[in-house]
Amino acid sequence: MAKPSRSPDAAKPGNRVAQGLDHATPGGASRTPYIRPEARPRRAGTASGFRRDVAVMTDHLTLHRLVADPLNESVRLFDAELESREPFVRELCARISRYRGKMLRPTLLLLTARACGGVRREHAVLAAVVEMVHIATLVHDDVLDAADTRRDAPTIHRMTGNEAAVLLGDYLISHAYHLCSSLESPRAARRIAAATNRVCEGELMQVHRRGDWSLDEGAYIAIIRAKTAELTRAACELGAAFAGADEAIVRAMGDYGDDLGVAFQIVDDLLDLTAEEAEMGKTLGRDADLEKPTLAAIRFMATATEARRRELMALMGEADSGTTERDRRGRIRGLLESAGALGYAHETARRYVASAAGHLACLPESAAREALRTAAGFVLERRR
Ligand code: IPE
Ligand code: IPE
Ligand code: MG
Ligand code: MG
Repeated sequence: MAKPSRSPDAAKPGNRVAQGLDHATPGGASRTPYIRPEARPRRAGTASGFRRDVAVMTDHLTLHRLVADPLNESVRLFDAELESREPFVRELCARISRYRGKMLRPTLLLLTARACGGVRREHAVLAAVVEMVHIATLVHDDVLDAADTRRDAPTIHRMTGNEAAVLLGDYLISHAYHLCSSLESPRAARRIAAATNRVCEGELMQVHRRGDWSLDEGAYIAIIRAKTAELTRAACELGAAFAGADEAIVRAMGDYGDDLGVAFQIVDDLLDLTAEEAEMGKTLGRDADLEKPTLAAIRFMATATEARRRELMALMGEADSGTTERDRRGRIRGLLESAGALGYAHETARRYVASAAGHLACLPESAAREALRTAAGFVLERRR
C-alpha cells in the first residue's frame, strides 16, 4: 500500500492539479515534437572519481538522433492515446506529456529495431507503450518513496494526493495495453504483460526487504533485475522481434537490455547518494531514508567492522532526526567511499555494461549497433 505523502502541505485528494502544471522548467512549454532536428549532443559531466570507459562522452540526446523520426511519432501516439474528455484527467495527462524524461526505453527499442533489420510502423506504437508503462511505474514509485520532485517538477502525488496518483498510474497501464492491442500480433501484449508483472514483483520484493540488512548482493541484483531491467529487456526484445530478427537474436538483444538495465539501476542507486538533485531533476536520498539496501551499502555491510556497520545503520535510520539531509547523505557517502564500497558498486555496473556490449557481437556492423554500444556507456557516465 502507498505510504502517505511525506510533506504535510501535499495537495489534498480531489484538489485540482495546481501550481505544478505551470511549473517552470528548463525547456519551458510543451516539448513535442520531442526531438528537434537541431538537437546537438551536450557534453555530460563525469561521475567524479570513477573511471571513464567511453572515449567520447555522450548523453541521451545523442542517442535519440538516429531514431528521431519514429521517436517523435511515438510521442504523438503517446499523447493521442491519453486524450480524455474529463478535464481533471486531461490536465494530469498534459502534465505527463510536458515533462519528458530521457526516453531511454523507447530509444533502446527503436535502436534495437534499426540494428536488427529496420524500424516498422509497429515500433513507434511499442515505443509509446514501453514509455507509458515506465511512467506508470514512476508515478507509483514516487508514491512509495514519498518523493517530491520528478523530471524537474513536483511529483503527481505532491500535487494531487496519493489517491489520484495511484489511479493515474493504473490509467497509464491500462492505456498501454489498449495501445498494444492495436497491433495485429498478440506477441507485444503478452510480453508487455509479463514485463509489467515482473516489475511489480520487483517493487514488491523491494518493499518486503526494506531495512533487511541480511539481503545479499545476489538478492539485490534479483530485485533490480525485476523492477528495472525487465522493462529494458522487454523493450530490446520487442525492437528485435518486430524487426523480423531470428529468435536467437531476439534473446541476445534481451540479454543486452537486461545487463544494461541492471547497470542502470546500480548507477541510479549510486547517484541517489552522490548526485545533485538539480542535475538529476528528482528527489535524491530516499534509498537511505527508506533503508533500502543498495549495492554499495550491501558491500559495506559485508566487509566493514561491526562498529562501522552500526554507524551506517544508525545514519540510515536517522531520516527525521534533525540532522540536515545534506549532512546525513554526506556522512553516508563518506563512510561508503572510505570503505571502497562506492567504487565496488561502480565497478560492478561497469562489468554489466561490458557484458551488455558483448551481446551486440551477433549483430552486423551498423550505426545503430554503435549507438546501442554508446547507450550502454551512457548508463555509466550519466549524471541524470
Ligand atoms: C528512473 O528512470 C527510474 C529508474 C529505473 C531508476 P529514468 O532515469 O529512465 O527516468 P526518466 O524517464 O529519464 O525520467
Ligand atoms: C524505481 O527505482 C525503479 C522503478 C522500476 C520505478 P528508484 O526508486 O531508484 O527510482 P527513482 O530513483 O525514484 O527514479
Ligand atoms: Mg524512487
Ligand atoms: Mg533511484
